[in-house]
Amino acid sequence: MVKAVVLGAAGGIGQPLALLLKANPLVTELGLFDIVNTPGVAADLAHISTPAKVEGYLPADDGLKKALAGADIVVIPAGVPRKPGMTRDDLFKINAGIVKDLATGIATTAPKAFVLVISNPVNSTVPIVAEVFKKHGVYDPKRLFGVTTLDVVRASTFVAEILGNLSLSKDIIVPVVGGHSGVTIVPLLSKSTHPLPASLSTTDYEALIKRIQFGGDEVVAAKNGAGSATLSMAYAGAEFASKVIRAVNGEKGISAPSFVPLAADPAGGAVLTEELGQELEFFSSTVELGAEGVVKINPLGSLTDAEKALVKAAIPELATNIQKGSNYVIDIY
Ligand code: NAD
Ligand code: LMR
Repeated sequence: MVKAVVLGAAGGIGQPLALLLKANPLVTELGLFDIVNTPGVAADLAHISTPAKVEGYLPADDGLKKALAGADIVVIPAGVPRKPGMTRDDLFKINAGIVKDLATGIATTAPKAFVLVISNPVNSTVPIVAEVFKKHGVYDPKRLFGVTTLDVVRASTFVAEILGNLSLSKDIIVPVVGGHSGVTIVPLLSKSTHPLPASLSTTDYEALIKRIQFGGDEVVAAKNGAGSATLSMAYAGAEFASKVIRAVNGEKGISAPSFVPLAADPAGGAVLTEELGQELEFFSSTVELGAEGVVKINPLGSLTDAEKALVKAAIPELATNIQKGSNYVIDIY
């Protein structure tokens, strides 16, 4: 019995994500919340012959509370997307307030739920949720996740393209660590389950790294003002949500990269901090999942010199983004 809730469910990501969650046989209840259109989206999805009972809510009449009541897992794709020329950090001004308000609703109505944050800038919105939960005395770092799965999905696809076999992409696993924006996205290609061809030139290797780091810009440019990745994000979000749901259901051995508080696993966090050479409150690394959330944060392990340089380059921006998110909430209260 799993109740999943999508906040921002009428949006470009929200709708296909809600569809994929409705198609997940482990989901028995699906709550949809948005400031517009959720009754229609819910009525539409409710006709699909899968177990989940679907309900759509708007802000009126305590809609957020009703949507969140009894939630086991809450996915947040609410907020504005980028247009060409913008960075994810440019979204902070609008999305920080949206995420703070939604996090307040979760903290007061479903404080035990697993919270999966998609809204950008993820490097800052996850710290916002953490601070809101701390203010309400319900913070459990094991249950908070920034969704970075799209970077992992992109890395699998682009490596499969280089290997000349797209049907491999489902099996290719490339850990992508760090954060979710530009240089903070660090693909560890040396740890790919499917090695790159030995003949790959340094120029092609660097181009691949850059394409994974800036894959979001590729979609923003192609959409030409109509938003950012929605369908691939819904796929990635549903993949990650499905892993969390399977872990909650007692399945063992599930892991995935995610931007998590290092406090979720103090021992693993300490090893990671030593590897990074600097304290960061959040970092995306491969995490092992269990019924209570994060069980273990895996270390980065041995890296190539090129990967060490990428990690080093990611840290300053990551630290600034994290601080900006935390301060936003600390300054309000
Ligand atoms: P969108 O504009 O299509 O949809 C956003 C939805 O949020 C809209 O339906 C809107 O009504 C709703 N919304 C706004 N304020 C709300 C509130 N206070 N409460 C509930 N709902 C609210 O945008 P999108 O393309 O779906 O993107 C959503 C967010 O996801 C953006 O911030 C985008 O940058 C981010 N994103 C993240 C990733 C990632 O990898 N983490 C990938 C793609 C997009
Ligand atoms: C992505 O990686 O596609 C998202 O973060 C959306 C964006 O703004 O690029």
